[in-house]
Amino acid sequence: MFRIETRGQIVEFLLHYKLKKICEIGVFRGDYLLHMLQSNPTECIAVDSWKQENVKKWWKISTAKQVYRIFMNRIRGMKNVKVIKGDSVQVSLLFQDEYFDFVYIDADHSFEGCLNDLVHWTPKVRIGGWVAGHDYDAKTTNSVNLAVHHFMKFNKNNMKNFFVTKEPYTRSFFFQRIR
Ligand SMILES: C[S@@+](CC[C@H](N)C(=O)[O-])C[C@H]1O[C@@H](n2cnc3c(N)ncnc32)[C@H](O)[C@@H]1O
Repeated sequence: MFRIETRGQIVEFLLHYKLKKICEIGVFRGDYLLHMLQSNPTECIAVDSWKQENVKKWWKISTAKQVYRIFMNRIRGMKNVKVIKGDSVQVSLLFQDEYFDFVYIDADHSFEGCLNDLVHWTPKVRIGGWVAGHDYDAKTTNSVNLAVHHFMKFNKNNMKNFFVTKEPYTRSFFFQRIR
């Protein structure tokens, strides 16, 4: 199985598995989204609430409005990018099941928030497609880790090829949907 060692190798991963319809949940200023766009997807959906209470956790010196404006400027003119501003779970309801080839989750890092995203976004990935997410083991909290393992406990028959990247911390998890 082809796997990557750091999330910086995501372009190789997307190209290897021909993942062309992609989505990021939790975009912030778009650093990682811009990186993924180097794989030239046919469609890239960018989901973030850009709400002050969510954004302030990540970048205390900027307002949510500033972060949103920075992101919109960065993706201006990119026809394959569609931006949806809203709560991740609410936005998931806009898509039919199996719509995406790949979803990357990096939004609410609490146990409930991450679990909710896994529950709502995994069905939006086609069979054979991949779900991934950031901060599997963050420095300050293991809530994402706990949520991922809780989700896997109840979905082990629906997924395979689980792996975690090899950075010293803030690793990313990946798994493939099989049913
Ligand atoms: C860690 S930042 C994302 C960083 C980005 N993925 C990157 O690597 O460049 C987390 C983002 O998730 C967003 N977020 C948090 N909870 C959310 C929710 N419930 N719905 C939508 N977006 C949310 C925040 O607004 C913030 O911009």
